[in-house]
Amino acid sequence: MADNMTAAQALSYISDIDPYDPGKPVEALAAEFGIAPSDIVMLAANENAIGMPESAVAAVTETLRRGFRYPDGNAFGLKAAVSRRLGIPEDWIIQGNGSDEILGLIALAFLEPGRTCVFSQYSFSVYQLSAHMNGARTVEVPVKPDFTLDLDAMAAAAADEPVSVLFITNPNNPTGLALTQADIEAFLEKVPSRVMVVLDEAYREFMPEDEQTDSMALLRRYPNLIVTRTFSKAYGLAGLRIGLGLAQAATVELLNRIRAPYNANRLAQAAASAAIADDEFLRRTAELNREGVRRLEAVFDGLGLEYLPTKTNFIMVKVPGAADVAKALLRSGIIVRGLRSYGLPDWMRISVGRPEEITKFLEVFEKAVAAQR
Ligand SMILES: Cc1ncc(COP(=O)(O)O)c(C=O)c1O
Repeated sequence: MADNMTAAQALSYISDIDPYDPGKPVEALAAEFGIAPSDIVMLAANENAIGMPESAVAAVTETLRRGFRYPDGNAFGLKAAVSRRLGIPEDWIIQGNGSDEILGLIALAFLEPGRTCVFSQYSFSVYQLSAHMNGARTVEVPVKPDFTLDLDAMAAAAADEPVSVLFITNPNNPTGLALTQADIEAFLEKVPSRVMVVLDEAYREFMPEDEQTDSMALLRRYPNLIVTRTFSKAYGLAGLRIGLGLAQAATVELLNRIRAPYNANRLAQAAASAAIADDEFLRRTAELNREGVRRLEAVFDGLGLEYLPTKTNFIMVKVPGAADVAKALLRSGIIVRGLRSYGLPDWMRISVGRPEEITKFLEVFEKAVAAQR
């Protein structure tokens, strides 16, 4: 190679990746609109609106002064807590710096140029990014007309060589729609066992308990299944970055080989170990979320707006003049997620906030929608 090494000489499949736009930081938006940062209503990232569990705050505070020591690279305490909670062996669990990292490790282990990765239309952007980072081809399977995942079409796509990884999300982001246990079981029966299926359950805890998939039973049955979970949503730890991969021991052992030794930091491990045992926090989160969803749906019904029946802490709604409505919201310090980048310019995704945040959102939203008519 004659020239100096520069960005221009990066691998072509890396240079081809579109940069991710994380949006402006809350502080910058607050300054732009002359609003105090604490008055910004953040309804764009599906975080837990009620904050961190106190049990996790206490655990972090207690461990803070141990910050000079590396964390436990094997996350022993966290795995013990997860194992107790989920009833699976500790060597079926891998910790990640957010579940994002686990998705990336899966792609690193199973995707390369010449291999293909399948996911649905309207699914989490990191699936595509992780596949492209490894030079794999991606196949995006269209959803059904009602926005649900077309599992038959996804299984058919997976039957085509050389698919090696397939991502499904339950419930899905950004649609909020859920699959049933029977849907997922029938799907796993159809997908060839040489395909690694990733079942991303980032929003699982928001579903009514009797509708949650028994994914641990599925893990026992399917060696080609990896389940991902996160502490960023219902558990309220998004800023600490901690998530999990769950799979049979051989798969976890493989992923551990390519994981950075200290990938999950000490504070995150302590917080997650406390949060996973905090039933009361999870119950309160789910209850407030259900009330919030009901309020939003009632107003959307009143306005005659189409929305999807969510099982998560966000809701997708079709809004005439969505871009202008989002701008009006922003001027009042309310941030929602437009879905233009998904090819859905008339839709927005709204995270369920605290009751007072929902009140503020609805006040501005109703006026902005009326102004479009
Ligand atoms: C479907 C889905 N999976 C995974 C993630 C990643 O979460 P984290 O990396 O914070 O665990 C998100 C975050 O928005 C998500 O929506």
